[in-house]
Amino acid sequence: MRILLLTHSFNSLTQRLFGLLRALGHTVSVELDIADAVTEEAVQMFQPEVILAPFLKRRIPESVWARTVCLVVHPGIPGDRGPSALDWAIHRGDTQWGVTVLQAVEDMDAGEVWAWEPFAVRPGATKSSLYRREVTHAAVVAVLRALQRFAPDSLTPKAAGLLGSVAIKPGTWNPLMRQIDRRINWPTDLTQTVLQKIAAADGSPGVLDALFNDPCRLFDAHPASAEVLDAFSKSEPGTVLARRGPALLRRTVDGAIWIGHVRQEEFATPAQAAPTQSPAANVLKLAATRVFAAQSAALPELPVPLMRIESEWDELRYREFGPADARVGWLDFEFHNGAMSERQCQRLRDALRWVRTRSTQVLVLAGGKEFFSNGIHLHDIEAAQRVAGDSAADASMRNINAMDDVALELLTLTDRITVAALHGNAGAGGCFLALAADLVWGHAGVVLNPHYKNMGNLYGSEYWTYSLPRRIGEAASRALMQERLPLTAADAVARGLLDASFGEGAQDFGDQVLERALALAATHNLGERLAEKQAQREQDEALKPLADYRSEELQRMHRNFYGFDPSYHVARHHFVYRKPHAWTPRHLAVHR
Ligand code: COA
Repeated sequence: MRILLLTHSFNSLTQRLFGLLRALGHTVSVELDIADAVTEEAVQMFQPEVILAPFLKRRIPESVWARTVCLVVHPGIPGDRGPSALDWAIHRGDTQWGVTVLQAVEDMDAGEVWAWEPFAVRPGATKSSLYRREVTHAAVVAVLRALQRFAPDSLTPKAAGLLGSVAIKPGTWNPLMRQIDRRINWPTDLTQTVLQKIAAADGSPGVLDALFNDPCRLFDAHPASAEVLDAFSKSEPGTVLARRGPALLRRTVDGAIWIGHVRQEEFATPAQAAPTQSPAANVLKLAATRVFAAQSAALPELPVPLMRIESEWDELRYREFGPADARVGWLDFEFHNGAMSERQCQRLRDALRWVRTRSTQVLVLAGGKEFFSNGIHLHDIEAAQRVAGDSAADASMRNINAMDDVALELLTLTDRITVAALHGNAGAGGCFLALAADLVWGHAGVVLNPHYKNMGNLYGSEYWTYSLPRRIGEAASRALMQERLPLTAADAVARGLLDASFGEGAQDFGDQVLERALALAATHNLGERLAEKQAQREQDEALKPLADYRSEELQRMHRNFYGFDPSYHVARHHFVYRKPHAWTPRHLAVHR
């Protein structure tokens, strides 16, 4: 079929569908939803049999849906309508939810249901986490089912009997959730409620609140352990108590939470924040300790060791499994949105240096549950522009050097087998960080973006000029970088970027990774494998030192950061402030 993906942005769900539908042999093109006239033009040019809308913020014009079947993906169960479907489901504490594929008609989310797929709401999951995992999986199932039902000569879906028994009354319009609905009442809200409110608003629009009397939106919250709380049991709810990494510790009525990220706010009160206002359009989402640097500095710091009890939150965690002679080390780095700032890279580098001192046969780099890594921290870099004596170019250079230091630690860890286990998606430098490991594993749900060019023609570093060709060869590397397309796990296996893909989702995958890593650590010829790995590294180093790869890549990056072509700075600015697209990139809009 000829399928046009009409979407607000080429987001993770759209990328997944794009890859899957192409793999199934469909002819797929993409048009970003910019204006009705542009959509009409795209339909005219591409003549699709069906238009699929995975992620829209506006209505599809009648001129389009009246002539071509438009199937809209709604992240809610049949009968649910409105723009805050997931927010309300989390807010209400629903345990079951679903994704519906329905036909576009005059009223929003009111067309006939072509397919739907239920899912269990993971306790404690944030909205964006649900979206990237459960919603995406259910959407893929429902879209494929809807397309199977597609009859090219008829606009009537064969949807009868699909609805089953759902709790919600058909046709319920649930309005946009306002800040007033999300407001935290610190003197009375239990920790669980506060976490739920922040989860329902994460990653956008956040919960409007205040820290140090400064209005800001809260994101990235985690429960504090009972041990941490012991030291602060007498403080009032709402008080900020301490700091750790990017986060501030804040008292609740029955416990405390860590708040990792905030956006400063233009509005003083929730009532003033217009419900339709996009969140702080000119303000960056940054580490809480960075936004409130002066206030944070006056707070006690509560660092924790890499190996510690499960309930104690921090961005990094290290664990070990298995017997002494077949031991697996497991390093989680749960960086918000997979973005790795200079500080986070340095922490990860130091963690890897410490991990070297541990006696293990296999090291699993587990990344974060949501993203493995998305490379250098573009928000942090953008913020450097406003720091006296700093610049985005300098911050980019420091950040990429810090990323390279992490990759170097991995590339030179030759006394054990290293495995990058992609529980979540990986993009740009984050992909190439994974390729610095000996083995790269993923699951059916991950999407990889193994290229840099989409960020203003960035050349890229992370020793990609060494790790990519050694895996897939020079010609294939060049093609991958030029195409700039997302790869599903199956694509990535076929093209040699992933060594294996197994498991349906992050949880199932994680369990299987541990089993496989333990088996690997117990392999009878592990000694020989390690000897080969060391010999290969020495041979490669003699041929061309890693330092040369790095300095060549950084020379090109220097041009991106400081040269006369500002493309990278412009692209980054648009990305971090989520500026609306003005056109659809030509490599996606094949009809153009
Ligand atoms: N730095 C800072 N923030 C980043 C980031 C980065 N490198 N990559 C992603 N994010 C943030 C986004 O701003 C967004 O923030 P939100 O909390 O306000 O929603 C969030 O992570 C999710 O990103 P989004 O683009 O919505 O996710 P996606 O799954 O649809 O797309 C990517 C994934 C990787 C394709 C896309 O995020 C991307 O292009 N990232 C930039 C990669 C890059 O160029 N890195 C620098 C070169 S190494």
